[in-house]
Amino acid sequence: MRVGVPREIKAEEKRVALTPAGAAAFVAHGHEVLFERGAGAGSGLPDARYLEAGARIVDDPDRLWADAELVLKVKEPVGPEMSRLRRGLVLFTYLHLAAGEELTRALIDSGATALAYETLQLDDGSLPLLAPMSEVAGRLSIQVGAWCLEHQNGGRGILLSGVSGVKPGRVVILGAGIAGTSACQVAAGIGADVTILDVNSARLRYVRDVLGGHVNTVMSNRANVEEECLAADLVVGTVLIPGARAPKLLSRALVAAMKDGAAIVDVSIDQGGSSETSRPTNHDDPIYVEEGVVHYCVTNMPGIVPHTSTHALTNATLGYALQVADHGVGAALATSAALRRSLNVDDGRIEHPGVAAAFPGLPRAEGLETARG
Ligand SMILES: NC(=O)c1ccc[n+]([C@@H]2O[C@H](COP(=O)([O-])OP(=O)(O)OC[C@H]3O[C@@H](n4cnc5c(N)ncnc54)[C@H](O)[C@@H]3O)[C@@H](O)[C@H]2O)c1
Repeated sequence: MRVGVPREIKAEEKRVALTPAGAAAFVAHGHEVLFERGAGAGSGLPDARYLEAGARIVDDPDRLWADAELVLKVKEPVGPEMSRLRRGLVLFTYLHLAAGEELTRALIDSGATALAYETLQLDDGSLPLLAPMSEVAGRLSIQVGAWCLEHQNGGRGILLSGVSGVKPGRVVILGAGIAGTSACQVAAGIGADVTILDVNSARLRYVRDVLGGHVNTVMSNRANVEEECLAADLVVGTVLIPGARAPKLLSRALVAAMKDGAAIVDVSIDQGGSSETSRPTNHDDPIYVEEGVVHYCVTNMPGIVPHTSTHALTNATLGYALQVADHGVGAALATSAALRRSLNVDDGRIEHPGVAAAFPGLPRAEGLETARG
């Protein structure tokens, strides 16, 4: 199969959908890789590495999209990419269609087959192509939280690790899922005083088993959240209720009562945020101070570490992309339930119940709700 990897053109996006090692894997399986010139530059991956891996470097993105049978991307198609969609093309990328009516319509009109990373789901309900980015965001949350606490950013001027004779900072992590446990490992690793809360006792038991006595695990309820946040220097919000907006665990009144110059890193901001005071920010202007607390609410945190994020993402996607290339999309979907759940749009119809629910007026596959909804 001819596999195309275009350069990402969405603002601030520096990741690329395939590493040189991934390109070599496709070539070893007998496929042809068309790689847009410079597509790996933002992740520190020069064209020469892709050439060595056996890829063909292509200058014209229109040509690449027209020639490829399978296009691997990171972000959803934007701007001119929408007009490159066509029948017979298989697109595998993050799509987030429920929040994108224009793209959903463009995909339907094009007749293309669109597979979304974020809805590829294993039988146990886990989302293996979302997890790597949650891990990156979780680990990053302590790094950016430490920066927020610096005096010049409006923070309390606290060094999270403390020093000899001075106590470390107090970090409170809301949610002990992928992002929360990743944040917890970094915070504990630098010697902060860490408390993590979740409503799921199995998740707390896991953290306790892995990190032993280095962190406090606390059941999440209103009283405990309030007590911990009032004592915190840094609060990291990572709660998620799948398919719903994040619960607002921090009321405005609670934020106002927190220590002056404390910080909130709201990783859950892409689902609405864990605090009433959170509003989305971007890497150009990532923080603001509200109720005396520094807020960091960037919706695409992994974007500032594209090198690590590209490798983490492609580690997770490569096996599934190879399945599609090796067997063809029809046979791959027929044999893999996980891949089947990634199918969002095909042949002019919505194929995913979540997307169908978001756009009741758009064409959908027959019997979609009863079959999957
Ligand atoms: N901002 C970014 O750049 C970025 C990047 C990656 C992921 N995310 C977001 O981070 C969030 C977390 O992702 P994840 O993969 O870690 O999810 P996850 O499902 O692994 O973890 C979420 C955890 O929240 C817990 N939870 C639910 N309600 C709670 C409550 N009331 N109190 C305490 N805990 C509660 C759940 O039990 C679960 O353990 C998601 O919203 C995801 O979209 C954001």
